[in-house]
Amino acid sequence: TMYSDDEGREEYLFKIVVIGDSAVGKSNLLSRYARNEFSANSKATIGVEFQTQSMDIDGKEVKAQIWDTAGQERFRAVTSAYYRGAVGALVVYDISRRMTFESVGRWLDELKIHSDTTVARMLVGNKCDLENIRAVSVEEGKDLAEAQGLFFVETSALDSTNVRIAFEKVILDIY
Ligand code: GTP
Ligand code: MG
Repeated sequence: TMYSDDEGREEYLFKIVVIGDSAVGKSNLLSRYARNEFSANSKATIGVEFQTQSMDIDGKEVKAQIWDTAGQERFRAVTSAYYRGAVGALVVYDISRRMTFESVGRWLDELKIHSDTTVARMLVGNKCDLENIRAVSVEEGKDLAEAQGLFFVETSALDSTNVRIAFEKVILDIY
C-alpha cells in the first residue's frame, strides 16, 4: 500500500507474515531482525504479535509490518485475519528437525487458501548454526524452494546469519 506523508513524500507499508511449525524460531527471527535480540528460552507465541520495521529503498521509506503467530494449532488466532492483506511471507522450518521441513507443504497450502494477492515467498531453513545435528540438507531446501517457486535462504537467529537478507529480499521483491 502506498501513502503520502505530510510533506507529500511517498511511504510504503507492506504486511509480511511469518509461518511455520512451533519452535522453528519464527519469533526469534523477527526479534533479531527488528531489535537485534535473541532469547535462548523464549516462550511459544500465543495469538498474534507484530513489529514494524523500516527500510530505505531509493530514498523512499518502506515499512514492513511483520506478523508472527503461533505454530501450535491451539494457540493460533483466526487464520484468515492473520493472512489478510499480506504481500510477503516467510515460511520457516528448523534444519535440525526434519518434521518441520515436511510440514512446509501444509503451510504453503494454508497461505494459498487465505492470501488474496500474489505473495512474495521465502523458504527459510533456520538454525543453520546447528550444523552438527542437521537433518535437512541445503540441497533439499533449495530443491523444494525451486519446485514451489520460492526464494530460499538458511538463517540463524542465534548468530544472525542471513536474518536481514531473509526479510529484506522479500520486501525488495514486493517493492
Ligand atoms: P512458536 O511461537 O511456538 O510457533 O515458536 P517459534 O517458531 O516462534 O520459535 P521461537 O522463536 O520461540 O524459538 C524456539 C526455540 O528455538 C527457542 O528456544 C529459541 O531460542 C530457539 N532458536 C530460535 N532460533 C534459533 C537459531 O537460529 N538457532 C538455535 N540454535 N536456536 C534457535
Ligand atoms: Mg513464536
